[in-house]
Amino acid sequence: MRLTILTLVIFSATLSAQWFSKPKPVVLNLMPIPQHIELKSGAFRVTDDFSLGVTGRTHNRIYGGADRFLQRLSGRTGLFFTQGFLNEKTTPTEGKLIIRVQRPGEVKLGEDESYELTISRKGIVLEAHTDLGALHGLETLLQLLSVDGEGYYFPAIQINDHPQYPWRGLLIDVCRHWHPMDVIKRNLDGMAAVKLNVLHFHLSEDQGFRVESKIFPELTEKGSDGNYFTQTQIREIIQYADDRGIRVVPEFDMPGHTTALLTARPDLASAPGPYDIERKFGVFDPTIDPTQESTYAFMEKFWGEMAALFPDEYMHIGGDENNGKQWDANPRIQAFKDSMDLADNHALQRYFNTRVLEILTKNGKKMMGWDEIFQPDLPKNIVIQSWRGRKALIDAARQGYQGILSNGYYIDLCYPTSDHYLNFPIAPDADLTPDERARILGGEATMWAELVTPETIDSRIWPRTAAIAERFWSAPEVNDVDDMYRRLERVSVQLEELGLTHEKNYPMMLRRLTNHQDITALQTLVDVLEPVKGYTRHRYATYTSHSPLTHVVDAARPDAVVAREFRNLVDAYLENPVEGVTQTAIIQRLIRWESNHARLKTTIAGSPVLKEVESLSADLSHASTVGRDALAYLALCEAPDSSWTEVSHQVLEAAKQPHAAVEIIVVSAIEKLVNAAERVKS
Ligand code: ACM
Repeated sequence: MRLTILTLVIFSATLSAQWFSKPKPVVLNLMPIPQHIELKSGAFRVTDDFSLGVTGRTHNRIYGGADRFLQRLSGRTGLFFTQGFLNEKTTPTEGKLIIRVQRPGEVKLGEDESYELTISRKGIVLEAHTDLGALHGLETLLQLLSVDGEGYYFPAIQINDHPQYPWRGLLIDVCRHWHPMDVIKRNLDGMAAVKLNVLHFHLSEDQGFRVESKIFPELTEKGSDGNYFTQTQIREIIQYADDRGIRVVPEFDMPGHTTALLTARPDLASAPGPYDIERKFGVFDPTIDPTQESTYAFMEKFWGEMAALFPDEYMHIGGDENNGKQWDANPRIQAFKDSMDLADNHALQRYFNTRVLEILTKNGKKMMGWDEIFQPDLPKNIVIQSWRGRKALIDAARQGYQGILSNGYYIDLCYPTSDHYLNFPIAPDADLTPDERARILGGEATMWAELVTPETIDSRIWPRTAAIAERFWSAPEVNDVDDMYRRLERVSVQLEELGLTHEKNYPMMLRRLTNHQDITALQTLVDVLEPVKGYTRHRYATYTSHSPLTHVVDAARPDAVVAREFRNLVDAYLENPVEGVTQTAIIQRLIRWESNHARLKTTIAGSPVLKEVESLSADLSHASTVGRDALAYLALCEAPDSSWTEVSHQVLEAAKQPHAAVEIIVVSAIEKLVNAAERVKS
């Protein structure tokens, strides 16, 4: 199966108004793309008399889901439905949309999430084995909402759908920066909208311990700056996630990444304290002492308490980035290692993991951890989360272990969506047997929070995570990048209705940056800037957990849409230079960027925080002039002289240099124009 825009643009004669000579194409904007789609002719019209009914062995979950569906449909269409506030008592079994559920689903790994959606002119039937499948079907249905001159409709269609992978997660780090309830809830809504089903909750770190322990209240009293979830709030989040078919897997990272825990409990550390909550970012020395029995007495009680609080079968022990310095420096720990015949720190960490595993097992839980925990002799029911590469995932699968992939899904690093989208949990050329493939359960996007606050976190998660969600849900043959971007823009706006702030906070942040001035000139610049990628941003400042994340780099978004459109225009023009419309569109943009600098200088004069992007703004202006010249040479078929070429490349080189942790992202496209102009022979 190869589903691309070509197969999704299906001509439907019945949808065309009679006065059109050609049928109107039905373009589907689904994300993730379902496994099987058959577009039929006709449409179901959505009008004020829309209604829904639920039948089968159900559960509160489906009524809540149906109610949210109805509110969103009504919100998008502005239609006044007679139904509202649906619950088990108020929901009929008949309606224009009938939801048939065979049984309540369990929010656990491997539960049936399939559904079948049939839309005809007369009505809509959504059938699913479990309500989890039905919730996915409702999200698909909302994405199918279409408009024409007559109003709103759902295209007639038959969809049979199920996920490619059972583990489709998003990690949210609430430690490096604190992210309270509303951030978590709105992101759970976003996850449900794109059929993600695991919230990996990163709850302890050097910079904060974020869950109340009733047994060890000191963990949050001393390790959280007052920023933590009470157990009541954790239960509320778990219920909210469960209502949306999402598992919550807690991670308490150990034995490294534990400065906050050891601030509260220095007696558990491998070197004498005292410790303070870490304010910087990186890998730090404080590490739990794996040799003392008192450590395991703590672990028994702590993990026992958390095992009761979090219902999911899996608990994540972290296990990453233990630098071993405190262990090496402690003669008692070295002596223990020798006495236990543990060859190195890896072996010592395996000893620690094995002791924690016993505790988790006693509590009916399965263990997962980062790929550092993948060591010989662990039981086969653990899950390895590969972050340093794919090797651990493949090796684990070959040796009988289950795993998930996060390498390539680090959304905090601001790489383009396409990179993540074409990163497959099982690479197309993977040499694995069917049994080994089945052990690769899926993947997780990771939202590490060193450089995000509640104001910016959504813009690093969305919309790119919707494309990652498609990678986890859809068949690997669904891999047309242009079509992904086309649909992503639609989905991005739909996600806003869930309260996500990735779109709306952009102008808000620009308003603050301009200090009460008009934002137009600033937006023209920032529209073509992207944050520097990978870990390079840390070269521009020494960030701490209380640094301002309100600069241009924070307002700028990964994979800037305006820049991508420009790159596409340039590619289209160079493929077909006689296309006047494309040429005009390119010139319009270049003129705007060229003249923007003069206007932005006035804005900068009234807002010192913007001073740091003044040179970038000048660089964009100069590069745009070069681009215009190149277009002129191309249009006139005139070869540029060598001095123009030399100066142009100097201008472009300067414009490629990041400043203030942002880079101008249209320079490479302008360079293509210059290179093409150079090839013109007079
Ligand atoms: C990790 O990024 N240290 C799991």
